[in-house]
Amino acid sequence: MSEPVVRSFADEAAVFRAAADRFAEIAQAAVAQRGKMTIALAGGSTPKALYQLLTTEPYRSAVAWDKIEFFFGDERSVPPDHADSNYRMFMETLPAKITIATERVHRMRGEADDLDAAAREYQQELARVLGVPASGPPPALDLILLGMGGDGHTASLFPDTKALGETVRWVVANHVPQMSTWRITLSYGAINAARHVQFMVTGEGKAARLADVLEGPSDVERLPSQGIHPSPGEVEWLVDRGAAAQLKLIN
Ligand code: 6PG
Repeated sequence: MSEPVVRSFADEAAVFRAAADRFAEIAQAAVAQRGKMTIALAGGSTPKALYQLLTTEPYRSAVAWDKIEFFFGDERSVPPDHADSNYRMFMETLPAKITIATERVHRMRGEADDLDAAAREYQQELARVLGVPASGPPPALDLILLGMGGDGHTASLFPDTKALGETVRWVVANHVPQMSTWRITLSYGAINAARHVQFMVTGEGKAARLADVLEGPSDVERLPSQGIHPSPGEVEWLVDRGAAAQLKLIN
């Protein structure tokens, strides 16, 4: 299991530039080696700035956008045009500026009445695009982008929720009682199978929790982000000075 690499930057803008550089690097290597890049996108608000940055130079020209398969790490139980939709957030950023064929943006059907069925469908879609049996172990995506919530959750793996215990399926519906909602999320198995996992965490508001996650005692039920340790892949934490304020290893 690789040790997490933590890279601290002066400010949010520097975090996004580092994330964009890494994205381009991983995309170029994946396309050169396998003819395409597969990525699972982070939701929430932090990644918006990264998706917008990727539509500018040098990234716009550096990436073979027609060779990228876009998946999502998680989705809210809302329709794709809802303000809370991670799909909508993404579509309003990168594909608004760079043409991405609709068949290469693989949406989780958060609006489905049966979210378990939607999760199973998504696993089939992942298997189809990655060219592996849906009944087997999770395939290695080239890159999974993640954020960390103030409670230490990541994707829609929230503290004390059932999805934390999923050890077979790659994608599950997850009831989040503390938010009185349902989500669809990649499981630990799917995330930890990735070649590269990259967290982006910014702002002082997350400093205490980030220190708990990275330097505190292991308690995955309470701090689900601690459960992200890809093997043989790597995990990188890109953090700004505010989020890193309580880290011993940095200061
Ligand atoms: C979501 C995300 C979630 C997010 C964290 C951090 O659907 O909300 O997948 O895991 O990454 O909540 O969100 P911010 O980056 O907006 O703080």
